[in-house]
Amino acid sequence: ASPNYYKFVIKEAWYTRLCYSKKILTVNGQFPGPTMYAYKGQTIVVEVHNQANDNITLHWHGVKQPRNPWSDGPVYITQCPIQPGKMFRQEIILSDEEGTLWWHAHNSWLRATVYGAMIIYPKPGTNYPFPRPYKEHVIILGEWWKEDIKDVLQYVLESGGQPSLSSAYLINGQPGDFYECSENATYELNVKRGKTYMLRIINAALDEIFYYAIANHSLTVVGTDASYTKPLTREIISITPGQTYDVLFHPNLTPGYYYMAANAYVNGTLVKSLNASATAVVKYNETSSSKPSNPPFPRFPLDNDTSTDFNFSRSLRSLASKEHPIDVPKKVGSRLFTTVSMNSFPCDTNATCEGPNGTRLAASMSNISFIDPSIDILEAYYYNIKGVYGKNFPKFVPYVFDFTAENQPSYLFTPKKGTEVRMYKYGTSVEMVLQGTSLLSSIDHPMHLHGYSFYVVGIGRGNFDKNKDPKNYNLVDPPIRNTVNVPNNGWVTIRFKTDNPGVWFVHCHVEAHVTWGMNTVFIVKDGNKSEEKMLPPPPDMPPC
Ligand code: C2O
Ligand code: CU
Repeated sequence: ASPNYYKFVIKEAWYTRLCYSKKILTVNGQFPGPTMYAYKGQTIVVEVHNQANDNITLHWHGVKQPRNPWSDGPVYITQCPIQPGKMFRQEIILSDEEGTLWWHAHNSWLRATVYGAMIIYPKPGTNYPFPRPYKEHVIILGEWWKEDIKDVLQYVLESGGQPSLSSAYLINGQPGDFYECSENATYELNVKRGKTYMLRIINAALDEIFYYAIANHSLTVVGTDASYTKPLTREIISITPGQTYDVLFHPNLTPGYYYMAANAYVNGTLVKSLNASATAVVKYNETSSSKPSNPPFPRFPLDNDTSTDFNFSRSLRSLASKEHPIDVPKKVGSRLFTTVSMNSFPCDTNATCEGPNGTRLAASMSNISFIDPSIDILEAYYYNIKGVYGKNFPKFVPYVFDFTAENQPSYLFTPKKGTEVRMYKYGTSVEMVLQGTSLLSSIDHPMHLHGYSFYVVGIGRGNFDKNKDPKNYNLVDPPIRNTVNVPNNGWVTIRFKTDNPGVWFVHCHVEAHVTWGMNTVFIVKDGNKSEEKMLPPPPDMPPC
């Protein structure tokens, strides 16, 4: 087979973590799933064979799929699920992405175990915009539940409450030394002193934002979400679900053993204690001693640190060089002001709802809580099937309030339910302000846009001020991303040009928030020229 063809067989396999064995869903029996390799601009063909008992869809996170939403994967947005026993041939069209992306299941919460890395090299004959690293390694962060993930989701749907916290965090599928029955399988990264390594770091966790660090060493970010950045050196990196970082790591300390670790945080505060960190071990080849019982451990920010992530995100700059130029829309054709909020619904059907005050937890964008349609929106759009979705996702929040004040009136907690999309003409320069709110609980929301990457031109705390804040926008070298963190009680402004016709999901990459409705869809209409029109559907689209 040619190097850009993959066969992905969805099947169950037994895995043991934390002294328990359970059956999980995998691709080809592997966990984490297989790494895909490609050159910039290649097209990859993946034959997805579903040999499991569950419906599934697969998504290629961060691949723009020019004109080809058919292979994008989010369930009931661009396709119906691939049923057990069925096959779907997906075409992954790469364009300007270069660096690290990943792929994952995009229905129910199956991406808990169905995920893997995608590495996109520079075109043959071209180079990285930094000296070639001695070696490269994928570092993929995840979560593990002792329960079956389908039961975790079922519990959330029935109780209306929060999902149980995962039993462990993972680095390359392993919890590491701090967890029971895990020490022997801890991931070990062997390094030669004085060489430079590239780590391709991916956060594949369902719900958690991580701090990531290597004890006593610094990391130099050179890329985010498959686009290059100016080098940014930090001791700690924060990474939300959906994001990737390419970092250079230069081991030059006393040869020995050092922990790398990942630990989840909410608003700066660790979700679990430090000894609930996922760990892996960096081992210098020059050392002849065996591993000590406690190698140096990274210094993570402790409680109520609100600046590590904020300052890190604000310091990122795209490379914006001659070889890697950028094209930030300077004039805006269409403005969108959107809130992202936690909400709740009154609990009328189930008397024991576990949300606040007996409610059912919900989430929304511009106070609309997204409801999955029964057939996919792409099909409804393409074949003009009425009644599947509405076109009224608001341009502005339907009413104005002080977004980040304490003690908001409780009527604001109850959003509308709906399947509302926003329609765009081809070639529109869009500016979208994403405003976090203090409704119910003010937490970070890593918002992800399918079909595009975007420029993050502004980020700030508190309420967005339309007179003052745009003056500080970075239109020179803003970072290019596909997933951006809307800081708790803060805002982010992104810009992009609607040059990719299709049906594109917009959502928070915290899986529970997707289930609660923090989603919408952008439909970008065809342009006039033939190369501005959607491709026709493949013959084997999974039927609804
Ligand atoms: Cu990483 Cu909608 O996905
Ligand atoms: Cu969220």
